[in-house]
Amino acid sequence: MSAIAFRTRNAWPFVVAAALAACTASKNDNAGPTPTPTPTPTPAPTPDPIKTAADKTFDEGQQIFRFDTFGDEAFWTGKLRMNEAIAKVDPTTALSVGLKVDAEALPAAVVAGIKSGAISLTDPKSTIALLGLNAVVGVKAVPDASGTGLTSFGITCALCHSTVDNSFAPGIGKRLDGWPNRDLNVGAIVNLSPDLSAVEASLGGIADDTLRNLVLTKWGPGKFDAEVFLDGRAFKPDGTTATTLIPPAFGLRGVNLHTWNGWGAITQWNAFVAVLEMHGQGNYTDTRLDDAAKFPLAAANKLGHTTPKDAAGHPAPDLVTSKLGALQFYQLALEAPKPAAGSFDAAAAVRGEAVFNGGGKCATCHMAPTFSDSGWNMHTGAEIGIDEFQASRSPDGKYRTSPLRGLFAHDLFTSQKPAVSSGYYHDGRFATLKDVVDHYAAIPALAVSLQGTDEADLIEYLKSL
Ligand code: HEC
Ligand code: HEC
Repeated sequence: MSAIAFRTRNAWPFVVAAALAACTASKNDNAGPTPTPTPTPTPAPTPDPIKTAADKTFDEGQQIFRFDTFGDEAFWTGKLRMNEAIAKVDPTTALSVGLKVDAEALPAAVVAGIKSGAISLTDPKSTIALLGLNAVVGVKAVPDASGTGLTSFGITCALCHSTVDNSFAPGIGKRLDGWPNRDLNVGAIVNLSPDLSAVEASLGGIADDTLRNLVLTKWGPGKFDAEVFLDGRAFKPDGTTATTLIPPAFGLRGVNLHTWNGWGAITQWNAFVAVLEMHGQGNYTDTRLDDAAKFPLAAANKLGHTTPKDAAGHPAPDLVTSKLGALQFYQLALEAPKPAAGSFDAAAAVRGEAVFNGGGKCATCHMAPTFSDSGWNMHTGAEIGIDEFQASRSPDGKYRTSPLRGLFAHDLFTSQKPAVSSGYYHDGRFATLKDVVDHYAAIPALAVSLQGTDEADLIEYLKSL
């Protein structure tokens, strides 16, 4: 009775009565022990509605990042017929071109079957079964009723911006969202298509042979050319491929402009990729692409004025725009991974931090904690001692200061053993961190000063980020 009274509003008469009763009891020696009062239960804290909404947005963004094709099947199935091509690829071949398998999507029976060899990794039907389980990272495909073909094929952001931790086998493990898939050979995969006429048309009508043998086969693992569909420049002036490395999608919180050459905010680039690169069904507005001198193909094809259309070219619902908010939110939440203890010399790294901030002059552009510039994070090729080619393929004509956290995750994980770096800078031109530092040290205007063990210490610091 008194416990109830305490919890009831306007219950003063009861409270007072109970208190008086307690007083009387304590004065009466014959009344026995005072009953222990029932503790008032602490009410559960009301969840902060903003935090609840944030959690929901995170979950939505993760689903979109991992599994949303934005309706790009119309292109990858309808035009490139990738469903036909992939249905003929066995899992071993798929893994060799860098496709990854999400071990957590595999039921126990499948895990056992792979371990015992009952499920053959050299049979294309196994690829189809894995796709049916939604276990191939970044690929959404639907098996036909017979299990020997695929009725549709589409790609998601995770294809290029996720890998796995190889915990089950090379190429099979837990998802690592945001890690660049530097094993993925996008050119080789696209080259499997039996019909590239849609890509050839978007490149201004180049010949099939040229696209397959001179462009796509030269891309190599971990690389893609997002700008070739805008400017048609598939080669650098020296004749090598104009591709860039796939960058991480982690560690970007607080970084101003995105991509190697700073196209815009995360959400600008996400819309660009979903609509113009993946060929999802959505709006993309960007009058910068009307610059016919810089972006002849984009201007001619009015890419900066793209509206959602179905496979037949008729106006269709926008499957991209409503997802951009959650997608951006999820990417911002992706922390850069921490290097394993023992993968760098911790004492040297402490000394290297002082070099980074001092004589190395690194922190004049790479500012902690983002390790990009705080502010407008763009520099000319001349400032960093390289050519202007890739910079000239962006609206600003500059390079964006790369965020440096999780540099160790720039490795080719499975295609080479032991894993080696897939290179640094937008095109991987520097094979090692020592090459990067030597490069900076040779730029007169930077006046980098490195003495004694400074360079070695600086490299350990970079490995520790
Ligand atoms: C075919 C591979 C591929 C796919 C699919 C892909 N990306 Fe990328 N992404 C790249 C490449 C390559 C770049 C670098 C582009 C450049 O600098 O020209 C990039 C750049 C980025 C960046 C900039 C990172 C930074 O360092 O600032 C973000 C963010 C990003 N992508 C997010 C996404 C999202 C979200 C999706 C899905 C809507 C997606 N990407 C799909 C290959 C891909
Ligand atoms: C003038 C500004 C500037 C200074 C100074 C500078 N950097 Fe950079 N850094 C950049 C830019 C811009 C890029 C991107 C280059 C590209 O896209 O090819 C970059 C890229 C890098 C990369 C490659 C990251 C990747 O993802 O591949 C590393 C590593 C790096 N810098 C380390 C350093 C170190 C170490 C120093 C000091 C010795 C330094 N930087 C000084 C601007 C600078």
